[in-house]
Amino acid sequence: MAFTCTIPAVPNLQQDDAMLRITRWDFEPGAVTGWHEHGWPYFVIMLEAGTLRLHNGTEITDVLLTKGQSYMRPAGIKHDVMNASPHAISFVEIEVKQAGQFAGMIAVQDQLLSPESPASPHPLTDAIRAGLRRATPADAAAVRDLTRAAYAKWVPVLGREPKPMTADYDMAVRDHVVDVLHLDGELAALIEMQPEANHLLIVNVAVSPAYQGRGYGRALLAHAEELTRSLGLREMRLYTSVHLTENVKLYERVGYKVDREEEASPHLGVFVHMSKPLL
Ligand code: NI
Repeated sequence: MAFTCTIPAVPNLQQDDAMLRITRWDFEPGAVTGWHEHGWPYFVIMLEAGTLRLHNGTEITDVLLTKGQSYMRPAGIKHDVMNASPHAISFVEIEVKQAGQFAGMIAVQDQLLSPESPASPHPLTDAIRAGLRRATPADAAAVRDLTRAAYAKWVPVLGREPKPMTADYDMAVRDHVVDVLHLDGELAALIEMQPEANHLLIVNVAVSPAYQGRGYGRALLAHAEELTRSLGLREMRLYTSVHLTENVKLYERVGYKVDREEEASPHLGVFVHMSKPLL
């Protein structure tokens, strides 16, 4: 089953050889590719922000994608794709004809992130994508308030306010990448990131107490990995206090390993530096 719409998306073949087929697709609002099966793994790079509506034969899923965002999918995907945005969008699709050892990595990525995969461990991903946006200077006060609320439970553990509680968020929204997640019109969680030359540093992940324990922290870490890949980087890094054992365990569960412990200062205590290579 496919969409009944008949406005065709327009393919523009840019390269077709033994290794790759590269196609630019232009979609008017409401345009569809038509039902198709992917014989090869493929990458998509969005040239505009927009909403892709995916029909997999039984279910319809809307995925909000940002300009420049990329994702990959394994061979065997069958679907119809519609531009559900109120404006035209375009993306470049790169099909990999000789996937070879790529195949395993694409399968892993797909399992972690695919909104099309029924095995996705983040059923919230579509809602999260829809609620995510980049913070602006006008968000600084809300970012500070949520972070202070999220970290307040650690004050008795540390005997002081954790570093994120006292950070300068006017500076953070200006100099770092801060993405905020709104759910039901409310700021639910945020992630502050700092891209470096060869890795992305996660400065702060904070989930509002009302939303804790529901997978939003993990989803924001997955979002950070997507951003890292889209920047062409292959390593995630973060650090946390050695006393925030719950956080260290969470990061270990999602693939981070401890690189070293370091006495930050007598006041701030010992930090645990962790990293995760991206496949
Ligand atoms: Ni497709």
